[in-house]
Amino acid sequence: MIHRRTVLMTGAALTGALGSAGLLAPAMAEPAQAGELDPTTIPQFEQAMPVPQVLEPVCDLGLTSYYDVAMREADAEILPGRKTRVYTFNGNFPGPVIKATSGRRVLVRQTNRLGVSTSIHLHGAHVPESSDGSPMDLIAPGGGSKIYTYPNNQPHANLWFHDHAHHQESETVYRGLTGFYLLTDDVEKNLNLPSGAYDVPIALRDARFDDSGQLIYSMGDFMKRHVLMANGKAWPYFEVAARKYRFRLFNTANLRFYTLQLSDGSSFQQIGSDGGLLEKPLDVTSVSLSPGERADIVIDFSKYAAGTRLILTNTGGLLPGEPVDQLGRVLQFRVTAPVTDRSTVPSTLRKLPALGSATVSRDFVLSMDETGATMDAFINGKSFDMDRVDTEIEYGATEIWNVRNANLYTPHNFHMHLVQFRVLERNGKPVTSGPESGLKDTVPLQPGETVKLQATFTGYEGTYVYHCHMFDHASMGMMANFRVRKPSLRRG
Ligand code: C2O
Ligand code: CU
Repeated sequence: MIHRRTVLMTGAALTGALGSAGLLAPAMAEPAQAGELDPTTIPQFEQAMPVPQVLEPVCDLGLTSYYDVAMREADAEILPGRKTRVYTFNGNFPGPVIKATSGRRVLVRQTNRLGVSTSIHLHGAHVPESSDGSPMDLIAPGGGSKIYTYPNNQPHANLWFHDHAHHQESETVYRGLTGFYLLTDDVEKNLNLPSGAYDVPIALRDARFDDSGQLIYSMGDFMKRHVLMANGKAWPYFEVAARKYRFRLFNTANLRFYTLQLSDGSSFQQIGSDGGLLEKPLDVTSVSLSPGERADIVIDFSKYAAGTRLILTNTGGLLPGEPVDQLGRVLQFRVTAPVTDRSTVPSTLRKLPALGSATVSRDFVLSMDETGATMDAFINGKSFDMDRVDTEIEYGATEIWNVRNANLYTPHNFHMHLVQFRVLERNGKPVTSGPESGLKDTVPLQPGETVKLQATFTGYEGTYVYHCHMFDHASMGMMANFRVRKPSLRRG
């Protein structure tokens, strides 16, 4: 099912990164092929964007909530009037929302009724190794199950869960194995941000279909994935009352970078990123998301007359010659009547935890073969080996990680398990404000870029991964292990 070496490397180059690679561009705008559904024939803004279903616990006992989830195939109506076979959690596409609260434990029993092994990772969470959903910790297909324990001893954050079985996650995530996990706490609850029906998580991604409406998966072919989806629908519309809404945006695409804005150029507020709220809301006209990243935004529709239609547009990842009418549009907002709005976005949202001072500094270089000769990708020159520990970390240490993208054309990003980190610098410039100033677990790196990250490795000992979150790149080897241990154990 997984064809690891079937794609030309050029397929991995992406986004605005191609500024200097104009020569490549004409070959890169790929028209639909025979047997493939022509994306220009798919009607836009015909289906309503659903609000993802909230999963109810099977029981709540004391400080623990228990959930039961089955991974299985199901049919989804992604394209108007057609059925597409997808992978799901509990039949939901995208997966359901688990609502969790800091200080209350969540146990999820995941049962695998698919035909492939899976490992479910809770992205952005601080969890013991045994519940991290590491690439090697597999749940057998055909009914195997595993109970994941999520202590939720971390502040509020927009987390998500997805398959992480090594060499397979790229395809299983593409086929649908993603879900939402919204962790809240008192800090967030006390803010009076838009809530209830006015607080909507949105999973963004792309895909490619054959002419019978089925997903086409081929590793690294992001340039052919010309259908953009929001909450599992191709180019949906979403009705909004003329008031403030909070949208929690998740980039669940394998490879696509988004830069989102409103079609009338209006500004909106960004209030949060991966690891929860920023210290202060930002007035922005766009937000950018690499695969795996999240942005929490508030759009105030009260200035629009009923009947106004606005498009959430995308300028990220568009190559010369690519179809702007498809890749440049995400969803349409349809403004209806005004309603009372008592929500507020205060000028201070939270206080970030103190940074602490680092005692260790390390360098990481991300690269992949851009010649097309191989399908290999590396961190510090090595492809992932699940049995090799690449980075030994002393329990409790605060470290600085300098991460560089050494490629010329291919963007990457960098995700660490276990921790939320801070971005201290980007390309040598301090990051003191803006969307990267909050808690992060995933950062983008355009070709040649560097970031300086700081993290504290405490809470759990164990082996965890760090990797590029462009899943195809991780599958090609751009992943490594770090191990956190107490010094006494290391000597023993
Ligand atoms: Cu969302 Cu290791 O990944
Ligand atoms: Cu990458």
